[in-house]
Amino acid sequence: MQLTDLEKAMLDGVNGRAKAAAMDLLVRYGEAVGAERLVETNNVAGAFNASTPSVRHIVDKGFDAVYSELNLDSDEIVEIPHMAVDTWQLITGIDNDNWKIQGVDESLITMQRESEAYLGERSINMCATCTPYQVGNVPVKGEHCAWMESSAVIYCNSVLGARTNVEGKESTGAAGLTGRIPYWGYHLPENRFGTHQIELDFPVHDMMDWGILGYFIGEMVEENRPVINNVLHHPNMIKLKHFGAAAASSGGVEMFHIPGITAEANSLAEAFGPNKPVEVFRFGQRERLETYQKLQSATDRKVDFIMLGCPHNSIEQVALIAELLRGKTIHHDTELWVHTPRAIKQVAERNGYLKTIEQAGAVVMSDTCPAISRRLPKGVRVIATDSAKQAHYLPAIANVQGWFGSVTDCVEAAITGSWQGGMS
Ligand code: F3S
Repeated sequence: MQLTDLEKAMLDGVNGRAKAAAMDLLVRYGEAVGAERLVETNNVAGAFNASTPSVRHIVDKGFDAVYSELNLDSDEIVEIPHMAVDTWQLITGIDNDNWKIQGVDESLITMQRESEAYLGERSINMCATCTPYQVGNVPVKGEHCAWMESSAVIYCNSVLGARTNVEGKESTGAAGLTGRIPYWGYHLPENRFGTHQIELDFPVHDMMDWGILGYFIGEMVEENRPVINNVLHHPNMIKLKHFGAAAASSGGVEMFHIPGITAEANSLAEAFGPNKPVEVFRFGQRERLETYQKLQSATDRKVDFIMLGCPHNSIEQVALIAELLRGKTIHHDTELWVHTPRAIKQVAERNGYLKTIEQAGAVVMSDTCPAISRRLPKGVRVIATDSAKQAHYLPAIANVQGWFGSVTDCVEAAITGSWQGGMS
């Protein structure tokens, strides 16, 4: 791989052992994927926090040891300096306030807080969400990034037109210290054109249908790049984040185009560039119904747990939930957790939404989600969620039955303790 003089100097240890270990990792990674060079990045979003019992034995050796082993894949413990470029912590394992409700051991939340203090001193921004673009990290079109988290990556590539592959803990750890990432995959313009065409025969409009459409498309195109044509109702950020998260779950999609809406597709021709569609799929009433049914893994209508906020909720979504819950009470056998970034939770508190939701008996969580933390309320058998991604993962992760539906259906289930959702 071709390195600049500065990169060679970092690799040779001129800028310290941590940057040398980081550069060594990036060169190994770049060579493994056939990258010819590195590219500069000033936008890194990864997972650095120590918040799980499995890392406790490393924490005993200090947080430099955690970073060295988990974020640099280094056998040697190196002293970690300030990040070289803007670096963000994505979602983490524990809600710093609601850890008791999550069933987290006190020693573990202490470890997470100490870890955050260590990372904060090294200028890693603790946004602690899978939606950094909702709380201030909004890369511009063409910007090279190094992001983890599939739902964030697909949003970054498609809606914003910035450029990232799905990175890992190690590569983001190395990118934060060097400001470099291998130049391959979605960093290359020629790898960003559409491959498959999706013709909408059904006028997809509400959030639930955008989730269903994403899930359908992921299954159809797998890891390719769909171009969605004939979109009659202009989607907003909320619908596109749900759509992308679903497509990335059922199929591993990292980029899509919607002509006239997403960043790199003013037209169908621009979306495909030099490519011809490999295949054309149609999405109509039948595909919509079949996909909705696939997302239902439950048969028991008695619901124990409702999860809202995957990807993390926007302030508009929190406001809607508060409105649906106003003056109501959650069923005594049911728990409702609403997930949103901590920065948005503060706005929700100022607006009174938080109070309304809590008065109904629900919990507003930040920093984490059940799929990442692997923590649900004790004894849960049946869940309901408005997220196709969560409906895909939670039954497998937590061995539960799952209902998928609209936010209104989910809130209704939380109030009655029973699933009555459906599709019109
Ligand atoms: Fe975010 Fe967790 Fe969903 S990371 S996208 S809330 S599974």
